Amino acid sequence: MRILAIETSCDETAAAVVSGPPPVIESGVVASQIDLHKKYGGVFPELASRAHTETIIPVIEEALEKADRNIDSIDAIAVTVGPGLIGSLLVGVNAAKALAFATEKPLIPVNHLEGHIYANFIDHPDAKFPILALTVAGGHTQLVLMKKHLSYHVIGKTRDDSAGEAFDKVAKLLGLGYPGGQIIERVAREGDEKRYDFPRGMMARSTRAQGHPEQGRRVGEGYDFSFSGLKTAVLYQTQKMSQDEIKKATPDLVASFQQAVVDVLVAKTIQAAREFHPRSIFLSGGVAANTLLRETLGMKVKQEFPDTLFVMPELLYCTDNAAMIGVAAVYRHKASAGGIASWEEVEADPNATLEPVTVAK
Ligand code: KG4
Ligand code: ZN
Repeated sequence: MRILAIETSCDETAAAVVSGPPPVIESGVVASQIDLHKKYGGVFPELASRAHTETIIPVIEEALEKADRNIDSIDAIAVTVGPGLIGSLLVGVNAAKALAFATEKPLIPVNHLEGHIYANFIDHPDAKFPILALTVAGGHTQLVLMKKHLSYHVIGKTRDDSAGEAFDKVAKLLGLGYPGGQIIERVAREGDEKRYDFPRGMMARSTRAQGHPEQGRRVGEGYDFSFSGLKTAVLYQTQKMSQDEIKKATPDLVASFQQAVVDVLVAKTIQAAREFHPRSIFLSGGVAANTLLRETLGMKVKQEFPDTLFVMPELLYCTDNAAMIGVAAVYRHKASAGGIASWEEVEADPNATLEPVTVAK
């Protein structure tokens, strides 16, 4: 099975050729729009959509060329249907539909968060279930339990900002630029992470809940995240300081912020692992590129669950890409889990949740 995958949910125009399972990435092309959005300090949706329209065809052509394939040797087209920005999603979905129609090939709709999780199967196709997957992206932060392929039980998600969003907003607030994650990681290297004790959102509640099961705690309760308080705490801290003080303290501010985010993500994942006993733990999403998160979670899993496989994608498969969409599609095709559709049935869904992707009626 060989799939041409397309991803345009946010600000990267991406295409890849993936075969399998087990998944083999034959090619992957990602055209980033970072330079376009930089001056706005975040993604400007209309510009994103226009840029996708301009780059989608060349990106698809390049992915086929790099894989040394022409469209005839492709068995199916896959595309991200959501969640994401509607104007961005529509470009990829319509390109995929047109291609599927013209070539009479099946079209496989893929959920973007499912794609992030499936990036882990590139190097570990034999990972054992149940899998506990922490996905930390720009738009979403989720803890998901998978008992088998393509089956998702969301046990925790963010109640407000995602972790990636917090990175981006704190970077913006400190005038560090966009996108925030990588910049904060770089600046934090020079800083003291113990200087500011920023709040660890929703940790107290879940710790309490865990200590007193008689209080009527439901299974899975306590795994939600909240990062907006942390972002606000950084803002309040800077409001007490002069511009000069902020400038001097920026490495300490971002190092302390980064530490707080990582502490929460790691604590919740470990807490969930204690409850659900996964045989594999997956980390994914753009924030999974963060070295402190990768190292801290990896170390804690090794310490506490030495028999559990801990997996995270290579950096290029953490941030948005189409290879991960192709990998999920390869498994969807194998299982035909409602995932194989004719082009007429596939629609963009900006609010798609991580339930099995259903096709429009
Ligand atoms: O998965 P992704 O590329 O897009 C979405 O699905 O949203 O994630 C993008 C997010 C951004 O918020 C970005 O700041 C964050 O991932 N990010 C990082 C790092 N690299 C990207 N956050 C922390 N550390 C990094 N090294
Ligand atoms: Zn993403």
